[in-house]
Amino acid sequence: MILLTLETTCDETAAAVVTDQLEVLGSVVASQDHLHQRFGGVVPEIASRAHVERILPVIHEALAKAGVTLRELDAVAVANTPGLAGSLLVGLAAAKTLALALDIPLVAVNHLQAHVYACRIASGENVFPCVALVVSGGHTSLYRCRSPLEFELLGGTIDDAAGEAFDKVASMLGLPFPGGPSIQKAAERGDAAAYPFPRTFLNDAARLDFSFSGLKTAVRYTLVGPGHVDFDKLQLDPQQVADVAASFQAAVVDVLAGKAFAALEQSGLNILCVGGGVAANSALRRRLEAEAVQRGVKLYIPPLHLCTDNAVMGAIAVERLKAGLVEPLDLDAVAGLQR
Ligand code: KG4
Ligand code: ZN
Repeated sequence: MILLTLETTCDETAAAVVTDQLEVLGSVVASQDHLHQRFGGVVPEIASRAHVERILPVIHEALAKAGVTLRELDAVAVANTPGLAGSLLVGLAAAKTLALALDIPLVAVNHLQAHVYACRIASGENVFPCVALVVSGGHTSLYRCRSPLEFELLGGTIDDAAGEAFDKVASMLGLPFPGGPSIQKAAERGDAAAYPFPRTFLNDAARLDFSFSGLKTAVRYTLVGPGHVDFDKLQLDPQQVADVAASFQAAVVDVLAGKAFAALEQSGLNILCVGGGVAANSALRRRLEAEAVQRGVKLYIPPLHLCTDNAVMGAIAVERLKAGLVEPLDLDAVAGLQR
């Protein structure tokens, strides 16, 4: 079987052509970073309008790369939750149109579960049952996954997501959007022990939740203190920027790794899958790899292009299709965050 998968949950317009054997025949990701850059974050209305412009060219390019025609498709899958309402609707409208016109099944994809499934696709191995950590721009969540269809939420952030904290701290430091890659780069020249930023909940081993807003505020107070500040006019010493970036990143890595391994201990599992844009972070990857070896845990982290948003991970639709889980054409977008 050949599936077309669509991803428009946030600010990437992506399409992929995959088989039920999880072969990737073609994949296209159109980034909108340059459109959102000057706002320091994703502007939902700009994102949805850009999806409208890009969705058809992106689908055509994915099909062309795969050497597959529309008529050869056996199903179409689309991420319908979670995400920005306007963005989700564009992918959903395209997928429904194709399903109706081609008379093929429509399959719903949960974007967060798809981030985890990227580990299955990239490794070519069965990664279930596992503990999964999803670290993205909107989510920081731990799951116990019995199978590709059974995700049980163990905990998550009670305020900001890890990626959101990277983006906001980068903005305070005058570093470009998206903040994750720019903080990672600045951190290379910095001292991770320069500032003792908080590691919220890290010492509460029983609690599998995260909180990053206190960390974000600690960074702000380190830079400027309370009160109104125009961060655009702030003159920061480049070494201080590097030291804050490195110390902030170290705090995030400590809590993500600490909670992921605590979840493994609590659940008695020894497979850890990590997905989402923040899983592209080199310091996090190094830390998880080292600790996994030490603890005898099998770790799966996808290559960078399958960590950040893409449509290949929508191949989780194959599992739903095999289980007979197809959707009616009135499938809704379920916007917002899953907490
Ligand atoms: O999964 P993703 O591409 O989109 C969402 O589903 O949100 O994640 C985007 C997030 C952004 O906050 C971005 O700053 C972060 O992932 N990110 C990183 C890195 N690359 C992307 N964070 C830390 N280090 C990176 N190298
Ligand atoms: Zn994502």
